[in-house]
Amino acid sequence: MPIAALVGTQWGDEGKGKITDVLAAKADVVARYQGGNNAGHTVVVENVKYKLHLIPSGILYSGTTCLIGNGVVVDPKVLVEEMRYLHEHGIDTGNLYISDKAHVIMPYHKVLDKLEEQARRLKIGTTGRGIGPAYVDKYMRAGIRIGDLINPTRFRSRLEDFLPLKNRILQEIYGHPGFEVEQIFQEYSGYAREFADRVADTSLLIDEARLAGKNVLCEGAQGTFLDIDHGTYPFVTSSNSSAGGIAAGLGIGPNHVSSIIGVVKAYSTRVGEGPFPTELSDAVGELIRERGQEYGTTTGRPRRCGWFDAVMVRYAARINGLTGLAVTLLDVLDAFQSIKVCVAYDYRGERLEHFPTDLEALQECRPIYVELPGWQTETSNAQSWADLPAKAQDFLSFIAKEVGCALQIISVGPRRDQTIVLSEVFGERD
Ligand code: GDP
Ligand code: IMO
Ligand code: MG
Repeated sequence: MPIAALVGTQWGDEGKGKITDVLAAKADVVARYQGGNNAGHTVVVENVKYKLHLIPSGILYSGTTCLIGNGVVVDPKVLVEEMRYLHEHGIDTGNLYISDKAHVIMPYHKVLDKLEEQARRLKIGTTGRGIGPAYVDKYMRAGIRIGDLINPTRFRSRLEDFLPLKNRILQEIYGHPGFEVEQIFQEYSGYAREFADRVADTSLLIDEARLAGKNVLCEGAQGTFLDIDHGTYPFVTSSNSSAGGIAAGLGIGPNHVSSIIGVVKAYSTRVGEGPFPTELSDAVGELIRERGQEYGTTTGRPRRCGWFDAVMVRYAARINGLTGLAVTLLDVLDAFQSIKVCVAYDYRGERLEHFPTDLEALQECRPIYVELPGWQTETSNAQSWADLPAKAQDFLSFIAKEVGCALQIISVGPRRDQTIVLSEVFGERD
């Protein structure tokens, strides 16, 4: 049976949480493969809004196994808090497993994230959750993994190895008092005890599920343009959020992933710094923000808003090998008399069809728009393609053609029942 994946095709917040939750109804396993609690995935069930940062959005179904893969960076404090938050809402986390190979976000990573951002001349606008510094230590081979954290002898020894250098950096460069081994050891061992029985070889769990014919869904965090390699570097996150990160971040063969669905807003948003060719700094952008409630799930920052950029999503289709599109927030565009879609860029008088790899060139690109008539009809009750106004169908068909990828799912509201599935991702669950 298939392993399917959902990836963000823009700058994050495309509605991956909502679409994951919808598909999780038929998934036996939902797995996160990268990022950490910089993610904010919103799922609305029976008018309750759940905000998940670390635990996969499949957790709201009792029969779905949820995995935090080795490619994720885990803040143990956040994990414990998120498990408690779910328990308070009557949601069981007995089906949650965490990879022993996942790296731990330590308190010094969070402090360093903020201090480094302050010191930076060119701000990135990070979420301040310690994501970048934790991945730096992973690649420096100075990381503490979940498997170390739950083993007191190893945890203490790793802390004794790594903390002196961190303290020197904190004290000598930033004038921060630094941390004590004993204090971190006690606090973090306390968190570890709360989920030690959930730590597993998640790669093996996925493979067993696959061999047993189960449906596995990989839930991306962030988006293609925040990818460390393929995004708008340096205004990116510190992991491979595009489909390339799935195999390494879960310990599965890339050939087992048979469908990769690109989640895409019917317009564009970005939170944090960096270039944004179709950004609207006017009343139209403001209207998109208000209708779409475009405020960050993690930091509450207002999101920058703009028109749909087919050049970007075309690139995302290539980088991820997209097999289908899940277009979200279509209803936000219900109010507009006309809707623009960027189909190419003007770069110094030259027409570019492909997203430039050079950031300075991107900064000079001006969008070339095609203007489509708005439908000015409410779509949020549409249950099928036929229920959509003809002009909304035309808009969707136009963006699919421009991107070069088939439409698979259309979302017309935050709730589960506000979803039109044009072709199924999974068969029925066993
Ligand atoms: P994610 O990070 O990709 O999971 O996306 P976020 O949860 O950060 O942001 C998406 C926001 O849009 C959330 O508040 C969702 O509840 C909401 N949402 C998702 N799909 C739709 C939709 O089709 N229409 C509307 N109006 N809201 C949606
Ligand atoms: P979801 O999964 C939107 C952005 C931050 C910043 C940059 C680097 O909800 O789509 P980081 O803290 O990762 O080092 O910040 O990346 N960013 C996101 N923007 N959605 C997210 O996740 C994001 N995760 C990180 O705003 O610009
Ligand atoms: Mg989000």
